[in-house]
Amino acid sequence: MTRARILGTGSYLPEKVVTNHDIEKLVDTSDNWIRERTGIYERRVVAESQVCGDLALVAAQRALESAGVSGSDIDLVIVATCTPDNIFPSTASVLQSRLDIQPGAPSFDVSAACSGFIYALGIADKFVRSGAAKRPLVVGSETMTRILDWDDRGTCVLFGDGAGAVVLEASENEDGIISSHLHSDGSFESLLYVPWGPGRGFSALDDKSGYIRMRGNEVFKVAVNTLTRIVEESLESAQVDKSEIDWLIPHQANIRIIQATAKKLELPMDRVVVTVGEHGNTSAASVPIALDTAVKDGRIKRGELLLMEAFGGGFTWGSALVRY
Ligand code: ACO
Repeated sequence: MTRARILGTGSYLPEKVVTNHDIEKLVDTSDNWIRERTGIYERRVVAESQVCGDLALVAAQRALESAGVSGSDIDLVIVATCTPDNIFPSTASVLQSRLDIQPGAPSFDVSAACSGFIYALGIADKFVRSGAAKRPLVVGSETMTRILDWDDRGTCVLFGDGAGAVVLEASENEDGIISSHLHSDGSFESLLYVPWGPGRGFSALDDKSGYIRMRGNEVFKVAVNTLTRIVEESLESAQVDKSEIDWLIPHQANIRIIQATAKKLELPMDRVVVTVGEHGNTSAASVPIALDTAVKDGRIKRGELLLMEAFGGGFTWGSALVRY
């Protein structure tokens, strides 16, 4: 059976660090409140000159390098983002050209908010299983701080910028993506959304309408319940016992949500990759950044069983069980 094996990983974080103390100067909040409720103590913020595609480019270059392949070896590009550089061309098409990826290879962006990377990985997996692609590049890249209302303490403390990438390769052995699961329920739109998009016309764009709005407490409750269900679905479908999971690589939104999922898996926190403290919620970039962090520091080793999961605006949610 053909599976999509992770050949290499890469990530990139902008240089500028914004701490909770920096945000204390902008809104009525405290380092203590942010740490206790979310686990976040700092986040990275893009330079004025950088766009999502710039972050994606460096993460992708690092993933190609770690995979030992070049752009011309890639035959599919998927970028997960809700903060693309342009309405079109897609960030993936821009990346295709900047990395000298084969002209004619399909490239497109995926919009599934914080679940975007899991969606992109699941789509790439299906391309590989069907024989439509042999070596996809899958990226999650976000400039979330560009769509934050810095007067809204309920959201501006939560998000950060960054990018992560993986190179996949069709493989006939047991390694790779064992199963992926993607879901959505659009009826929760009012809990987490950005009220403006280009289809509404520029006359509908005012000072605040391009920014994230969230009813955080309600999102929190649905996220915890939904992630519990998706973890069960992943294990059941692959007939894997929770004791077999070596690493949980969750979407990094809130340490309390992460702890709840780890508890469900009866997994000690030292088997969970946690980057939310130093990166905040980087939306579609959070899972590939966490993956790359733990691969590069030597925690995740070849042959280990990884469970990745995410939940985000839409609502969307998904998971991937991977033999690394
Ligand atoms: N600093 C200080 N006080 C604050 C802040 C802040 N930054 N933000 C809110 N508060 C206040 C509220 O006004 C409220 O005050 P009140 O009791 O006087 O009314 C109080 O703190 C409690 O607010 P809650 O919203 O109930 O706090 P909660 O414990 O739920 O934590 C949080 C808020 C951190 C946002 C949490 O709900 C959360 O993480 N939600 C999930 C977010 C998420 O996972 N999003 C995922 C997807 S994002 C995407 O897809 C793009």
